[in-house]
Amino acid sequence: NTGAFTYDPGFTSTASCESKITYIDGDQGVLLHRGYPIDQLAEKSSFMEVAYLLMRGELPNPDDYDEFVRTITRHTMIHEQLAMFYRGFRRDAHPMAIMCGVVGALSAFYHDSTDINDPVQRRIASHRLIAKMPTIAAMAYKYSVGQPFLYPDNSLSYTGNFLRMTFGVPAEAYEVDPVIEAAMDKIFILHADHEQNASTSTVRLAGSSGANPFACIAAGIACLWGPAHGGANEAALEMLREIGTPDKIPEYIKRAKDKDDPFRLMGFGHRVYKNYDPRAKVMQKTANEVLDKLGVDDPIFDVARELEQIALNDDYFVEKKLYPNVDFYSGVILSAIGFPTSMFTVLFALARTVGWVAQWNEMIEDPAQKIGRPRQLYTGATARDYVEITNR
Ligand code: SDX
Repeated sequence: NTGAFTYDPGFTSTASCESKITYIDGDQGVLLHRGYPIDQLAEKSSFMEVAYLLMRGELPNPDDYDEFVRTITRHTMIHEQLAMFYRGFRRDAHPMAIMCGVVGALSAFYHDSTDINDPVQRRIASHRLIAKMPTIAAMAYKYSVGQPFLYPDNSLSYTGNFLRMTFGVPAEAYEVDPVIEAAMDKIFILHADHEQNASTSTVRLAGSSGANPFACIAAGIACLWGPAHGGANEAALEMLREIGTPDKIPEYIKRAKDKDDPFRLMGFGHRVYKNYDPRAKVMQKTANEVLDKLGVDDPIFDVARELEQIALNDDYFVEKKLYPNVDFYSGVILSAIGFPTSMFTVLFALARTVGWVAQWNEMIEDPAQKIGRPRQLYTGATARDYVEITNR
C-alpha cells in the first residue's frame, strides 16, 4: 500500500499471464507503466522514452536514450518491394486493411532472418517494428489520398518524421508544427500499452506458438480494428458528428440506455475501468490545448464535453460505472490536426506497437512460457451415434 492507492495484483485465479509492464486499477482509475503514472509520463516524457521504458523496464539515461533513438531511426525505411505492395490495394481501401496486409507482409522480408530464440535478433525485430510503423502508416494515408510516398527524414524526431511523411509533399518544404508534434507525441504515449487488452492478448497468443513477431503484430492490428476496441476512436467521432449539436444529445443518451437498441455511446465504458479512464482526462486537457493553440473552434468538441457532463450525471451511466475512455476525446484532436477518421485506429496501432512489442518480448523471454490454449465450457450435445441421411 503506497498510501496513494492499494495494489490489487490482479485476478490471480483467472489471470491469463503475469507481467511487469503495465498495472491498471479499474476501480481507482490508475494506470502505471513500469510503476510510473500515465499522467506524469504524458506530461513529462516523450513517446520514444516511454517506448524505452516499456521495453527495458527503466527510464533511460541520456546516453542510452540517444542510442535507442539512433537505433530506431536507422530502421525507419521499408523495402522498396514492400512499397510496391500498396499498389495492389484499391485507393479507397480502409487504411487499417492496408496496415493488416503490409505489416503482415514484413514477415516475407524478415521471417527467415529472425530467430526469436536469439535475444539480439528479437531486439532487432522489435526495433524494426517500432521504427517502420510510422512509415507504413503514413504511406497508407498517402496511398488513400493519391499522393506520392515520402521517405523518412531521420533528422526529425520520431513523431515529427511521421507528421512530415503524412502531411508533407515533395513539391514543398514541410515545417513540423511543434504544437502538433507535442500533441501527437502525447497521444502516442496515451495509447502505448494497456495491460492485457484484446489486441495485446492476441499478440501474446499468436506469439506463444512461436510465430514471427511481424505476423503477431499484424494479428494485433486486426483485433484492434474492431469498434469495441481500437476502432472506437473512429466510431466515437462519427457518433459526435451524427449528434451534431448539443440539443440532440438526449435522444442519443436515450438510445444508449435502450436494451433493444444496439447503439452504444462510443468512447464510453470499459472492460476494466469502472472509474474515469486516466488517459481520457489527459486527452480532454490536450484537446483543449490543441484546439486553442490551433485556433480551431470545432463544435464537435462542445458536443463531446456536453455529452460527457450529461452522461456523468445520468443514473444509468453512474450505476453501470460508464465513464469516457481513451477513445472519447482523441478523435477531436486528430480531426483538428487534419487526420481523416479512417486513420484514427491506424494511429492507435502505430502507438500500441511499442506495447505489443514489449509484451511479446516479455512473453518470449519467460522460460515457463507455453503455447496459449484457452479452455472452454462445453455446452453442446452429449455423445450420440451417426444417423444415415436416408433415416433423417
Ligand atoms: C479500448 O481493454 C482495454 O484496455 C482496451 C483499451 C486499450 O487501451 O487497449 O482501453 C482500448 O478498447 C477502450 C474501449 C473502446 N470501446 C468503446 O468505447 C466502445 C463503446 N464501449 C462499449 O462497447 C463497452 O463499454 C465495452 C466494449 C468497452 C465494454 O463492454 P462491457 O464489457 O459490456 O462493459 P460493461 O460490462 O462495463 O457494461 C456494463 C453495462 C452493460 O449493460 P448490462 O448488460 O449491465 O445491461 O453497461 C452497458 C453494457 O451493455 N454499456 C454501455 C456502454 N458500455 C457498456 N451502454 C451504453 N453505452 C456504452 N458505451
